[in-house]
Amino acid sequence: MSLLHLEDVTRTVIPADQPALTILSGVNLTVEPGDHVSIVGRSGSGKSTLLNLLGLLDLPTSGVISFDDRPVKSYSGARRDRLRGASIGFVFQQFNLLAGRTALENVTMPLLYSSGRTFWRRKKIAAEMLELVGLGHRMNSMPDRLSGGEQQRVAIARSLVRGPRLILADEPTGALDLDTGQSVMELIDEVAERTGAAQVVITHDPMIARRARRHFRLDRGILTPVDDPAFEPLTRREMREMAPVESSPVAASEDGEREVIELFRVETEAGEPEAPSETAASAEAETEATPETETETRRTEGTDA
Ligand SMILES: Nc1ncnc2c1ncn2[C@@H]1O[C@H](COP(=O)(O)OP(=O)(O)OP(=O)(O)O)[C@@H](O)[C@H]1O
Ligand SMILES: [Mg+2]
Repeated sequence: MSLLHLEDVTRTVIPADQPALTILSGVNLTVEPGDHVSIVGRSGSGKSTLLNLLGLLDLPTSGVISFDDRPVKSYSGARRDRLRGASIGFVFQQFNLLAGRTALENVTMPLLYSSGRTFWRRKKIAAEMLELVGLGHRMNSMPDRLSGGEQQRVAIARSLVRGPRLILADEPTGALDLDTGQSVMELIDEVAERTGAAQVVITHDPMIARRARRHFRLDRGILTPVDDPAFEPLTRREMREMAPVESSPVAASEDGEREVIELFRVETEAGEPEAPSETAASAEAETEATPETETETRRTEGTDA
């Protein structure tokens, strides 16, 4: 069973007063559970357009996209939104943190859409996630008081807090220096490995691409597997050697594995819900004040067939 499957996918847009523009054509890709895929391509090659399709934000003009072996087109818009919220985590170059909200509030945000025990325990779960990315001491900091690397860690905590099965990253290290970028990737890899999440990473950076197990190139909307020795996956030893001296908090924590498992077990755990710290009504008001998705990508006006 594949997690995500694209078959002969095309994406065409019709810009105002201009002829139709085919951005992606004949794209075939299968992402298995726990997979690690990299996609490299020049600016304008269609990477973000592809990511929007992989993230169920847009539908293809032609071809079929299946999630859990079911065509995405057969889902209603609301069902697709729920599936995305529960199963897909996005990491972008721009961290897209909500200004005027603390790190903790930012990471809590996706949990406002969960139900039951997870909803009531959302602050605790978000705090645990921030601990996990090494920012337990910055929970109450506003984004503009955090460094770029710290902001990206908050964004990653927010992307992973619901335990997605698929992590989609679009130039995740584009705004970071080399060392910070490597430690951020290390962090994503560790969490993905321990939770069994699949990753699709879009990047210009060959060293980031090399971390993946399977490699693709996107050239003018055509996706091809890369069979280049330079893209041989890194060995674990090479990855360790590439990591900055101060290793990631997940790697450093002896209890990391147990913590992550605990974190995502919450949903099924039996027991008394904690006394809610806020009323459901005020939480709902908060829900309305925040966007449905954390994505601020340029949405393409498509000709969804
Ligand atoms: N809605 C749209 N209307 C018109 N053109 C679009 C639209 N969306 C994307 N494009 C064009 O399609 C091409 C691919 O865009 P896309 O954003 O996917 O590229 P990219 O590979 O992510 O580039 P970058 O590396 O610069 O982020 C670009 O030429 C872009 O201008
Ligand atoms: Mg892009």
